[in-house]
Amino acid sequence: MKEKILVFDTTLRDGEQSPGAALNVQEKVEIARQLEKLGVDVIEAGFPASSPLQFEAVQRVGSESSAIVAALARAVQSDITAAWKALSLAQKPRIHTFIGTSDIHIAGKFGSDRYGVTLKEKRQTILKMAVDAVSFAKTFTPDIEFSAEDAGRTDQGYLAEIIEAVIGAGATTVNIPDTTGYTWPSEFGKKIADLHNCVQNIGDAIISVHCHNDLGLAVANTLSAIEHGARQVECSMNGIGERAGNASLEEIVMALKVRSDLHNFYTGIVTEELYNTSRMVSTFTGIIIQPNKAIIGDNAFSHESGIHQDGMLKNRHTYEVMTPESVGVPQTNIVLGRHSGKHGLQSRLHALGYDLQDTELETVYKRFVDIADKKKEVYDDDLRVLMGDERSKPRNAYELDYLHINSGTASIPTATVRIRHNAQVFEESATGDGPVDACFRAIERALGLESLVNSYSVRSTTAGRQALGEALVRIRDNNSFFNGRGISTDIIEASAKAYLQALGMRQHHFENNTPETIDSEV
Ligand code: KIV
Ligand code: ZN
Repeated sequence: MKEKILVFDTTLRDGEQSPGAALNVQEKVEIARQLEKLGVDVIEAGFPASSPLQFEAVQRVGSESSAIVAALARAVQSDITAAWKALSLAQKPRIHTFIGTSDIHIAGKFGSDRYGVTLKEKRQTILKMAVDAVSFAKTFTPDIEFSAEDAGRTDQGYLAEIIEAVIGAGATTVNIPDTTGYTWPSEFGKKIADLHNCVQNIGDAIISVHCHNDLGLAVANTLSAIEHGARQVECSMNGIGERAGNASLEEIVMALKVRSDLHNFYTGIVTEELYNTSRMVSTFTGIIIQPNKAIIGDNAFSHESGIHQDGMLKNRHTYEVMTPESVGVPQTNIVLGRHSGKHGLQSRLHALGYDLQDTELETVYKRFVDIADKKKEVYDDDLRVLMGDERSKPRNAYELDYLHINSGTASIPTATVRIRHNAQVFEESATGDGPVDACFRAIERALGLESLVNSYSVRSTTAGRQALGEALVRIRDNNSFFNGRGISTDIIEASAKAYLQALGMRQHHFENNTPETIDSEV
């Protein structure tokens, strides 16, 4: 009998904690729809207590999704209440509560004497907080997950004690995170096996694992945990997440599938949807996938050397352990052009994972025609970038109405911009070190704003001289980052749009006073 491994996707929660990856609500909803098509069992949609935006995103995803939707909460009543409120419309809600259990976490986060003076006392307080949190969450819904944060570095005896206690209080999933990506596969596997063997009531809950990739071992640790009793894996698309990221969903799933000769496990993932999901996440987060990334990188199925190409022509299995089709990598390039109709566009977007309402289609079609007029052939990647741009618009956006650039080898780069915002028009010119610098300065002058540009990049979405350029700008304000994305066949225009969008995001953030970070205690 084959056993199912549940896939808990945390792209929208831990994945979104990747520096600069902030997603807006619409983007999260779109990704959640695609995750459902992909067949994940649980979608962790966010951390409602951490900001109104997170709350709204969990609410929207919950109201739409037929998968289990999880909301994160620290082990305190206010967080759990917020998580439950955000999940109120979900068909299958799950409250996911966590608390740090390693001595390092205990000493760092619970240093105050009110948690106890000695380590022993503090451990008892934390155990009680964990049990209280699970019991409180249980008053709202039966599906409760508990995570022992930094379990990878937690004393094994204490970990077993806390896990037994929370299961006793009603936790139905117990998650063992390797929060710092510190463990070694055999060591982590043993940790799971010990819990499996020593915790009396372990049969009343599913063991889950959540591995970070600081040493590049997240997937190996996850697979080792499965071999030793874990039946839920927490992972993210493209492996995005805090620091070096989380275990990559596509790698775990394909490793299990391709090496099914070694074990008796399967997942419910529709692997042919991996590529579309991966691209959508990359487009919306602005996190580019490294070309040699396993499974979904551009080079994952490219064969460069003559010997390899020759081998492939004779027999694909010579150098490929899976087919590109099995993970949804398109084998033919469907190209749209200015004569493609609305339905042609709609069906292509559908194939890429985007389902548009009629009014949305109208707007996107206008933009598509505009692009098709400029670059004749519109590829899938152009459409993805267009959708990324469309979805990322902030409310109260600054709109670039006019841009003029004067630049050359013998002239001082000068830019003039006209910007519309809330029925107001702002116009200014500026010089700079280059055309982009001049453009950014003109924008700052026109709006009377300044910012620290933390990162700026431009890439072409497809090959060829008429390629669509995508600019990504990240600005920093104290500890907060704001991303902007702009697209155009003209990269200076794309850059100006991206900068305006980042400024718009920052403005929106301050107008709505959305706190991005919460008290680190607890
Ligand atoms: O890495 C971690 O420990 C987490 C928990 C909140 C599950 O993300
Ligand atoms: Zn994590």
